Amino acid sequence: MSAFFSKVQTCDVRQLGINPNHWYVAALSSEVTNKPINVVIWHQAIALYRDNTGKIHALEDRCPHRQVKLSHGRVVDSELECAYHGWRFNSSGECAAVPYLAANQKLPTCKIRHYPVKEQDGFIWLFPGNGEPCVEPLGLPEWEHLNYIASVAVINAHAHYSYLIENLMDMYHGHLHQDLQAWAEASLQDIHENDHRVDAHYIAQSYYKIDKIWSISQLFFPNLRKLHPEPLDVSYIYPHWVSSLGKDFKIYCLFCPVSQTQTKAYLVHFTSLNSFWRLHKLPVWFRRFVKNNLFGTAQKLLEGLIIQDVEMIEEEQQGYLHNPHRRNYELNRALVSVQRLMQSQVEHS
Ligand code: FES
Ligand SMILES: [Fe+2]
Repeated sequence: MSAFFSKVQTCDVRQLGINPNHWYVAALSSEVTNKPINVVIWHQAIALYRDNTGKIHALEDRCPHRQVKLSHGRVVDSELECAYHGWRFNSSGECAAVPYLAANQKLPTCKIRHYPVKEQDGFIWLFPGNGEPCVEPLGLPEWEHLNYIASVAVINAHAHYSYLIENLMDMYHGHLHQDLQAWAEASLQDIHENDHRVDAHYIAQSYYKIDKIWSISQLFFPNLRKLHPEPLDVSYIYPHWVSSLGKDFKIYCLFCPVSQTQTKAYLVHFTSLNSFWRLHKLPVWFRRFVKNNLFGTAQKLLEGLIIQDVEMIEEEQQGYLHNPHRRNYELNRALVSVQRLMQSQVEHS
């Protein structure tokens, strides 16, 4: 019975849509300027730009005049001007100006969709659902906190988002990263799940212990690392992922599902400086200087992990496309919970 259940789930889940009634990550804050960019969230092309006051706006990336991309255009005051004939659109998506409008002509009443956006914790969060959002974006309190050093890497995988979240929730895949020494010997202890999240608690061996300021050099020099047991907690807080390894590391994976076979995501790694009480007595400007200068220390590690993971999940996707009815044999019960959550979120959206 359970094998049959698992087979059905595995087939269906690769065709799932998303629940659009959540905040997805569209870009890093630093990626959005007054030069518009194009992002795609679940088949919807969106133009993101900053107006002359620095506020972010998100419009459907389509000029209603001739259907070209508005993101080719430029920002004029607070409006987005199409590159082709110079029509301008305000942040509500209404046509606000046509440069060659004759005195006896009215502005066209065409309107394009605008999306709720928020700039928070270093990222641009976008709500692709219809109606007003009744949830908040996932918070990353460590982003501004002076005791955490951040690193960010981008994942671009030609695979359905379910492959990525399953990869992230199945900590037995430490096997794949042996050479990078991220963690080892994971063992699932328990799982909690409800309609919004799955929390899987593992015990694993960690290579790193950040108890001295120079311990951060363990990120660069493997012979400084020593294995020791630590709790490894991973959570699928739909539609994003959060994990912690002991007290020293916290990692987020912020999802931007693009299509049935493409997923973008931001992996954000935080190294905690909480053990250094001496550091916390120093002036704030100095602590900020340390935080800013150590930004990106785990970048190479993240990029190495991503290359290995993306290769695997893209192969899974190809395997599915070539033979969608071939069943997987799954032993990790956390993945059954993850598939259940994805399905129920889409069913109830
Ligand atoms: S296509 Fe955009 S102004 Fe003509
Ligand atoms: Fe991985």
